[in-house]
Amino acid sequence: MSDPKHDNLFANPLGDVPGFIFDQAVVDVFPDMISRSVPGYQTILSHCGELAARYVQSHTHCYDLGCSLGASTLAMRPNIEGRDATMIAVDNSAAMLSRCKTILETTSSQVETQLINADICDVYISNASLVVMNFTLQFVPLDKRLALLEKIYQGLNPGSCLIISEKLCFEPESLNSLLNDLHHQFKRAQGYSDLEISQKRDSIENVLVPESLDTHIQRLRACGFHSASPWFQCFNFCSLVAFK
Ligand SMILES: C[S@@+](CC[C@H](N)C(=O)[O-])C[C@H]1O[C@@H](n2cnc3c(N)ncnc32)[C@H](O)[C@@H]1O
Repeated sequence: MSDPKHDNLFANPLGDVPGFIFDQAVVDVFPDMISRSVPGYQTILSHCGELAARYVQSHTHCYDLGCSLGASTLAMRPNIEGRDATMIAVDNSAAMLSRCKTILETTSSQVETQLINADICDVYISNASLVVMNFTLQFVPLDKRLALLEKIYQGLNPGSCLIISEKLCFEPESLNSLLNDLHHQFKRAQGYSDLEISQKRDSIENVLVPESLDTHIQRLRACGFHSASPWFQCFNFCSLVAFK
């Protein structure tokens, strides 16, 4: 496996900035990109490991939906060794999944791990004790999100847990703007230039569609989840747990 490269995809003027896609160029820089772009990313990952230790039951499935390079799977697997549970990691980017396979193969684990190259909206969820969707729902078309969450609810065993991490939007606009500014300041502190920040924002607009915390919680409740609550927030990034 080659070392993760420094993300400079948006460092030079691009003219007409193309819409963001999870292609090979993104795969090559992804670990650097996500850790310098999402405040709290490592904290969220390590606590997914902690939550997996608490909630993954023997002879059940643990899903990582939108697994990218398998960072969430890698955080969870060591904590569920010996339980005879199966990790199922899904992503619809063939480039991501191919690199993910290489990474997982070079990391020793006794946990059976299945990789599925598919749209998470089309994947059957069953016998799940934990479903993790870290920074993925925000890329699913708005009109498919409710059906996806209903399907996840149906596939979870009673007492089981869903983790959703997302970028959020806020009202009023003054608050939204403040939290976006704080996020951009975080990115500047991570070494991104103003040009990189603005071109990435243009590229991802309409591709990543954030929703408010209220929208997430109300939809989770409408699906039947209880005790849906944020357990982590940094600026406009949040991770929620919800229980069946
Ligand atoms: C921001 S990344 C997720 C990061 C990853 N969960 C982690 O913690 O490192 C979003 C991922 O979701 C995948 N994705 C987006 N929409 C998807 C869909 N409808 N079905 C499957 N994967 C999807 C993308 O290919 C991408 O790899």
